[in-house]
Amino acid sequence: MAPDPSDEIAYDRRRLRQWARGRARSAGLERRDLLKLFAAVSAAGPLGLTATEAAARESTDAASPGIVKPLPPEVFTVRGTNAETNFASLRGTGLLTPTDHFFVRNHTATPRIDAADWRLKVWGGGLTGGPVEFGYDELRALPSVSRTLFVECAGNGRSFYTTQQGQQVTGTAWTLGAVGVARWRGVRLADVLHRAGIGRHAVDVLPRGLDDEVVSNGVNLGRVRRPLPVTKALDDVLLAYEMNGEPLPPDHGHPVRVIAPGWVGISSVKWVGDIEVSDEPLYTPWNTDMYRLFGAAYPPGGSAPLTRQTLKSAFELASGATLPAHRRTVLTGRSWSGGAPVRRVDVSTDAGSTWRRARLHDAPRRGSWVRWSTPWVPHERGPAVLLARATDATGRVQPPTAVHNTQGYLFDAVVRHPVTVV
Ligand code: MTE
Repeated sequence: MAPDPSDEIAYDRRRLRQWARGRARSAGLERRDLLKLFAAVSAAGPLGLTATEAAARESTDAASPGIVKPLPPEVFTVRGTNAETNFASLRGTGLLTPTDHFFVRNHTATPRIDAADWRLKVWGGGLTGGPVEFGYDELRALPSVSRTLFVECAGNGRSFYTTQQGQQVTGTAWTLGAVGVARWRGVRLADVLHRAGIGRHAVDVLPRGLDDEVVSNGVNLGRVRRPLPVTKALDDVLLAYEMNGEPLPPDHGHPVRVIAPGWVGISSVKWVGDIEVSDEPLYTPWNTDMYRLFGAAYPPGGSAPLTRQTLKSAFELASGATLPAHRRTVLTGRSWSGGAPVRRVDVSTDAGSTWRRARLHDAPRRGSWVRWSTPWVPHERGPAVLLARATDATGRVQPPTAVHNTQGYLFDAVVRHPVTVV
């Protein structure tokens, strides 16, 4: 019996088996190179840097991250080619992350693309006819949709595997600010694919960015690209051209990017220039050796490629902030999930001995976050540990520890937030 195509996990496991047996086509990379990378990452190897190595590199790269927008230090922490939003700077900013506060995750550097010259080419064996091109104005003339959705890096929270759980991981040492929520306006990818003549035999949809090719360990991985199962591509994915009511800015994908609701950020390809619609399974480095889970808790070949984001909470407060004793402080924060909406948040101000329910300021909504608050009058001076723990609509609760994987993806544990009462 054919597997249910709407089941992402079954889809991805099947694709992994197909690739391993040589039955999935590697899109734009030699099988030899893929195997080399695959082996390197399975061994927690050189594709990534340890968090300590990454931190060392981050401090030297901070001057030229390849990002266009200003990165004031009170708003961003620059990490290599990326900029993390400082959560404290979101306090009082509203539900949407202001565009000038939105984190940036670039594999290379932000390209400057003129919308007037931009074309989107849709091509491949999964179409019933030949390639079809769309210009920017043609895309904007299609029926539009607007949605409030987060984009979050799969490695958001990665540094806590090391600082909180004492485990080694590779990759950018994010704290919790590799996430942002924006109002995205664009067209449904499904509408574009239908106009381009997607056939019933289409299997995978592969958007590719126009930024520079990515070179890792001497292997040119080509341009950033990650296949979407056709079921996801035809379901809720957007081709967005506006962010928070303005044309997409350069760092966030101008003129057009993919937004894949709830899925790991790599699925939301920026600066999209072409989309291959394939009639056979596709694999790229972004769903073979990267963005999978490797480690003791996972099969030797790694988990299925990552799809949905996990459950997280963050205080809108600097780590190590000082708070006045005997005075009322309103603790605020945000919680979000790529699965069911967050319906409850509990806060502890005594490292987990007691908990109280925080007040939610937003209706729980899929693909977005909820803001929350709770008052606190600290009486004891000295160090204290704050915790925030979200529960989603299915009853899933953030656990005390996250299951380790070598690349530090999908950290979902409650984060210990140190403060000092003075
Ligand atoms: N698309 C392209 N073309 N190049 C990239 O480097 N980074 C991905 C994704 N899309 C990336 C990309 C990753 S890993 C993430 S988390 C999101 O973009 C980040 O989106 P943002 O920079 O708008 O916050």
